[in-house]
Amino acid sequence: MSSPLPETHLALFRETTGQPLELKHLPTPQPVPGNVIVKILYVPVVSYTKEIQNGTRQYPYPKPFVPGPGGIGRVAALGPDATSLCLEDLVYVDSVVRSRDEPSDMYLLGAVQGGTAGSAKLARDMWRNGTYAEYCSVPLENAYRLDEEALLGGELGYKLTDLTLLARYLVPYGGLRDINVCVGETIVVAPATGAFGGAAVAVALAMGANVIAMGRNEATLHSLVEHFGARVKSVTITNDVGADTQALKKAASGPIDAVLEISPPAAAQSLHIKSAILALKKGGRVSIMGGIREDYGIPMNAVMRNDLSLKGKWMYEREDVKSLIRMVETGRLAIGERNGVKIEGDFAFAEWEKAFDVASENARWDAQVVMKPGV
Ligand SMILES: NC(=O)c1ccc[n+]([C@@H]2O[C@H](COP(=O)([O-])OP(=O)(O)OC[C@H]3O[C@@H](n4cnc5c(N)ncnc54)[C@H](OP(=O)(O)O)[C@@H]3O)[C@@H](O)[C@H]2O)c1
Repeated sequence: MSSPLPETHLALFRETTGQPLELKHLPTPQPVPGNVIVKILYVPVVSYTKEIQNGTRQYPYPKPFVPGPGGIGRVAALGPDATSLCLEDLVYVDSVVRSRDEPSDMYLLGAVQGGTAGSAKLARDMWRNGTYAEYCSVPLENAYRLDEEALLGGELGYKLTDLTLLARYLVPYGGLRDINVCVGETIVVAPATGAFGGAAVAVALAMGANVIAMGRNEATLHSLVEHFGARVKSVTITNDVGADTQALKKAASGPIDAVLEISPPAAAQSLHIKSAILALKKGGRVSIMGGIREDYGIPMNAVMRNDLSLKGKWMYEREDVKSLIRMVETGRLAIGERNGVKIEGDFAFAEWEKAFDVASENARWDAQVVMKPGV
């Protein structure tokens, strides 16, 4: 089944790294076996998009390409093997594209290749272009139908812009599920004041855990505690490991079961990860999700003596996506404005430079920039 698509569409095109994006007419992608063509409505802009796009963060991606890691859209055309999706369905486009014959080959659509030849092939030959476009060709399994009635109507009353934030909550959900966070546990989120850290606080609470939020900025930590209430305590990072470890233990008033680490590359010299590891109970678990590129001083003796587990996690699994969407549809997890996150601007694609600047200036748990097709 298919619907008529325009011959061309407008997309933000990148010829090569470091060059400015260009809003350009490209041939509209067409339905083929295994894909769905999504008409894009809104896309999220993470705070470090500018760094990825200007090459400061050297993410490998295919060139030329259309950037854009996921978003919200409507099904515009379907490959012949679709059995469930229908035209006009509201869908969440997830960026985690996996090879069908080797799922460890993974490409973040419109953002970054993994380190394997298979991942590069996926990006180069099949799913090259992302969602900063009017239309995007998406693997069928990456278009998740949303319960429009439950989400947009009734008690929840979400706006479409809120729904672009699903990925922000999915990232920490992937890590928290990977270390099996359970109801009643106490989790350190470090740092908690950024976009993914703040989302980690919300998700951990929705999973039934209590949270200790670590951060440098006391005012932002205060805003987190004020918003989320008594199940969240905060500890300011002083980089005095002894003092920070004691502060975490005091804030917990009981054993600390796990840590979710989600630091940016700039935090490579900060000692908050070490303090959090040292505060863990025997048998504690750590999910390492941050973007630190350098090696980091792990307190080896404490890891050994306390039977600690350290696990890395890049993004999340398909089951996590379905599960988190259900949490949002059923009201178990509030996202976006219902969760204290203000949309700082919905910019047309033509305003991409301003959108990237505003996103970078608003790298906080309670702010989000989105873009939409348009000039
Ligand atoms: N594993 C995955 O799948 C995955 C997926 C997406 C992103 N990531 C990684 O997650 C990182 C965080 O993303 P984000 O969007 O949440 O970033 P963000 O909004 O910019 O937040 C950055 C956080 O780090 C803190 N921070 C910055 N510099 C620091 C320093 N020198 N020492 C200690 N804390 C510092 C900030 O605290 P202040 O409030 O004090 O500035 C803030 O809490 C990204 O850089 C990316 O690499 C990983």
